[in-house]
Amino acid sequence: MKWLSLTTLALFAPSHALIRFPCAQLVVDRLDPLVNPGLIPSPHLHQIVGGNSFNATMDPSKDMPGESTCTTCQFSEDFSNYWTAVLYFKARNGTYKRVPQMANSGFDGVKGGMTVYYMQDGLYNFQQTSKVTAFKPGFRMYIGDVNARSKEDIARFRQLTYTCLQDINTRDPQILDFPKEPCPYGIMTALRFPTCWDGKNLDSADHMSHMAYPESGTFETGGPCPASHPVRMGQLFYEVNWDTRQFNNKEDWPEDGSQPFVWSFGDSTGYGNHGDYVFGWKGDALQRALDQPCYINCPTLKTQNVQAMNSCSKDRVVTEDNIDDWVETLPGGMVAGM
Ligand SMILES: *[C@@H]1O[C@H](CO)[C@@H](O)[C@H](O)[C@H]1NC(C)=O
Ligand SMILES: *[C@@H]1O[C@H](CO)[C@@H](O)[C@H](O)[C@H]1NC(C)=O
Repeated sequence: MKWLSLTTLALFAPSHALIRFPCAQLVVDRLDPLVNPGLIPSPHLHQIVGGNSFNATMDPSKDMPGESTCTTCQFSEDFSNYWTAVLYFKARNGTYKRVPQMANSGFDGVKGGMTVYYMQDGLYNFQQTSKVTAFKPGFRMYIGDVNARSKEDIARFRQLTYTCLQDINTRDPQILDFPKEPCPYGIMTALRFPTCWDGKNLDSADHMSHMAYPESGTFETGGPCPASHPVRMGQLFYEVNWDTRQFNNKEDWPEDGSQPFVWSFGDSTGYGNHGDYVFGWKGDALQRALDQPCYINCPTLKTQNVQAMNSCSKDRVVTEDNIDDWVETLPGGMVAGM
């Protein structure tokens, strides 16, 4: 039957089985409720997006979506918080300046922040794979190693990458450390989280071991989850566009030919790239989205406009850090090359 075979073909065609959405900046602050709950200030500076109930302490038993009154994310039922460290430029004269973020491709007008993806399937996966499960209330996780300074140090992680943007749509090559030359359109950092859950724990001591990577292949190729972590989740994925364009003058770069960018925790290699996630979707909104493949336009989700996203923000709690001007030291006294 003609119609049936067409339908079957459509099922096997590459579909954008993912949601991709912008989240504007909520705040840039020295807080980390996942790794250093309650610590004010936390050791290094972060940039945070999502629901405005973000705080130094975020009790997993609290109803986060219920406490937020707004979110910086386009999908207005998403009160999760997503955060990373902050990028700095170290000029030849030894002073530092924070590198601002800019809107990603397709998201003009969004103030800083980052792009968040939840992938139901690989972009390039032509086969149907089983449905993926949404994270649960109270779920949180971390990926990366703040102390990593070499390729070997991050061998156990997959897909924590940098792209030197030639234009806003550059995606390759993806490398594991800071680009060595000026990037005409800035630097993109990308973080893909593990996708296999142990099915029991909403968090773990290192904030990672309740999750695992597929035991063979990748999430994108439909790789199976290990028996210890049998539940296949959607793949959470961040892209952050760092606008390095004002720092591309090589006269200001180090004389020894090294690159000048440094993470807010002192890493000049880039291997210490890491990200944090605290789930906060309202009700079953995320599962609804994951059950019905959609791309940008997701009929099952409520959206808000750019103005509403940009107008949700939060005052900094740690005000001792000067995050706007040229500074002698990184916030918290972090030193480049640590
Ligand atoms: C934020 O945390 C402080 C304590 O660190 C607490 O006093 C305050 O109530 C919290 N605010 C919210 C909105 O949870
Ligand atoms: C250091 O260099 C930067 C970049 O050239 C410049 O903007 C800044 O004013 C300089 N700071 C000092 C203290 O010389």
